[in-house]
Amino acid sequence: MSTVAKPEVLVETRMVYCQNAAAAALLARLDPPLETLPLPQRLPAEEASPCVVIGENSRVFTAELRDAIEQNRARLIYILRDNAGLPAEASGAPIFSFLVPPLQVAVVASTIKAAFDNLDLLRRQASLEQDLLRARSEIDELNQIGIALSTQRNTESLLTLILQKSREITTSDAGSLYLVEETEQGDKSLRFKLTQNESLKLPFTEFTMPINASSIAGYVALTGESLHLEDVYQVPPALPFRFNPKFDHESGYRTKSMLVVPMKNPQGEIIGVVQLINCKRAWDLKVARETADAVVMPYPDTRRALVSSLASQAAVAIENARLYESIETLFEGFVKASVVAIEARDPTTSGHSFRVADLTVGLAEAVDRDDSPAFRNLNFTRTEMKEIRYASLLHDFGKVGVREEVLVKAKKLYPLQFDLLRQRFDFVRKSVQQEHTARKLTYLLEKGREEFLAAQGQLDGDLAERLREMDEFLEFVLKCNEPTVLPEGNFQRLVGLAEVRFQDWTGEPRPLLTGDEMRLLSIPKGSLDDSERKQIESHVVHSVNFLSQIPWTKDIRNIPSIVSAHHEKLNGAGYPKKLTAAEIPFQSKMMTVSDIYDALSASDRPYKKAVPTERALDILKMEANQHLIDAELFRLFTQAEIYRLTANWKHPAGFNL
Ligand SMILES: [Fe+2]
Ligand SMILES: [Fe+2]
Repeated sequence: MSTVAKPEVLVETRMVYCQNAAAAALLARLDPPLETLPLPQRLPAEEASPCVVIGENSRVFTAELRDAIEQNRARLIYILRDNAGLPAEASGAPIFSFLVPPLQVAVVASTIKAAFDNLDLLRRQASLEQDLLRARSEIDELNQIGIALSTQRNTESLLTLILQKSREITTSDAGSLYLVEETEQGDKSLRFKLTQNESLKLPFTEFTMPINASSIAGYVALTGESLHLEDVYQVPPALPFRFNPKFDHESGYRTKSMLVVPMKNPQGEIIGVVQLINCKRAWDLKVARETADAVVMPYPDTRRALVSSLASQAAVAIENARLYESIETLFEGFVKASVVAIEARDPTTSGHSFRVADLTVGLAEAVDRDDSPAFRNLNFTRTEMKEIRYASLLHDFGKVGVREEVLVKAKKLYPLQFDLLRQRFDFVRKSVQQEHTARKLTYLLEKGREEFLAAQGQLDGDLAERLREMDEFLEFVLKCNEPTVLPEGNFQRLVGLAEVRFQDWTGEPRPLLTGDEMRLLSIPKGSLDDSERKQIESHVVHSVNFLSQIPWTKDIRNIPSIVSAHHEKLNGAGYPKKLTAAEIPFQSKMMTVSDIYDALSASDRPYKKAVPTERALDILKMEANQHLIDAELFRLFTQAEIYRLTANWKHPAGFNL
């Protein structure tokens, strides 16, 4: 690390206070002499330097001395007189050593030395313990920051957190964060991403700058070396850059100490630079031009090491967040492509998946906000919202596994079937006409012109009657072919029609309606028979089978089970598992309301006319009353006007079928 900070020097003086004049005189005779001072009235309470006190009477046992001994600032050596014990004041006092007269200079001096050694040892131990505690708390702090960094997956929030934490652990008043950008051609530049300042609120715009030695951040990004400047206005001449004071001049701020650290990933690549400004003596202090000298200090070594460590963690966190975002983008693309695949199968339901997603997420947000007893305790995290959105987008994906002719079947007969039926009717019409012509010819030949002319009206009337009958049959079949409810009595008439026979071109008698046509035309409601309905319903199982193939991350792993229940009804009348209210996931219940509403109100289904909003809500209300869908969710869907979310719906930009 480049640095221009000065080392701090601590000077200690060692004092010996002596109550005993004989001892003081002895020590003064040492070579070199050991200076002593008489015991002061009071020991200085804030005494930083160690001292030894030589006492001989009760006056030495003061509260100050006891405190100083306990705090390892002092040691007491006591001179015991002949026949005299310790005075009462000495009770419980921590005495380092006793001397007994006659005093010998060597004994006194070595006892004093032992007392100082003891103080040094204990003070060093205390200092080591303090260092250990500080190191522990720094590791704790770094760990806490590391955890915070690793859980933040949004890059922008992460960068803010990195700068904030770097400033906090260094009590920096301000700071900026730069990221290295690389073009596809491999050209690198430095983007000024973020700035923070406790003393000033600043307007901020991003910009890019070259990575070279002409700027401080550029120099660090170029060399990969940390840089510490005690005062940016006194950059050592050996360094290739100068501080640009423009900002200080314009704002009245004073940039003084600066710590600039590269963010390197484990491969050693520099992905950004953290620039910390003005290490304050206390976090709460503000920096201005006038106060900078008093408030700002150089960055201490320990803090610099912490920032370096934090910067490495930050680099990994940024790369992880970027990776996470690219995985998310990738997955979004995959989901979008899946929706394209669903919609391509059945363009008549175009946009259904997106609208159901918008409605369900909107309903989930309303549940989040709602304070009613039903939803008071229900909240969805951002990830849970994402889970709901993906599940909604993919809920009908299984339709890709349903035969297309069934999926888009609009009438009871398939178009080809109906064409065939119509051709058969045309054939019968032609046959009737041809039969009529043959009959007329026979009549003419047998009866002669006069009789034929007389009977012609009757003959033509018979033809018209038979053709009208055929037209009526066809009209009736057309009506039955509609997916509406089959009116009372129509079934019987169909049975009657099925008994009508005609002769094919070989003269073989055949039924006017085949058994299959008869069966389909007899469908009482809708366009699907039981087996076709089952095929459509199987889309849920196909969806779940497909979604179960995806190795979902833990936080969104419920997607298959949410999707699996989107056609279940609370009373057990749904499909495919006939689940009941308690077994259906809440997210599926929300999706069901949205799904039914969109299926009713979507205007682009040729076989099902769009239902106006009021009618669609009425139908949902009926379903709620019949305990098919969740009544509380329906209440919220209406009250919060969730249905409006898709009122003017359009495909997302860039979405191409
Ligand atoms: Fe569905
Ligand atoms: Fe659906």
